[in-house]
Amino acid sequence: MEKLQRGNKIHTFVCVNDKQNPDKPDCAQHITIDQFKKLKQWNRQNHFPNNLLTKTGCLGVCNPQGGVVVVYPSGNFYKGIKNIDEIKQIIESELNNSN
Ligand code: FES
Repeated sequence: MEKLQRGNKIHTFVCVNDKQNPDKPDCAQHITIDQFKKLKQWNRQNHFPNNLLTKTGCLGVCNPQGGVVVVYPSGNFYKGIKNIDEIKQIIESELNNSN
């Protein structure tokens, strides 16, 4: 095993889980894979390598109000996210607080 240092300040995980069941809330109803790709492009242009951005499956706090994001090392969870502009605000706020 080898320890790997990436050098990024924060790591943002964006849930894009699709439960394939309209009766159960999931993040894909609010943040799609295509939206995540646009967010990734924005991140690459503005905040990479300081922010590492990863799409993920269910983070266990599904809610009908919106998508879910968790950021490390703060460990802050955000829920009720309506669009990628809100995720951009979260990333910029977390980066400001990481300095
Ligand atoms: S589906 Fe995103 S937190 Fe559960």
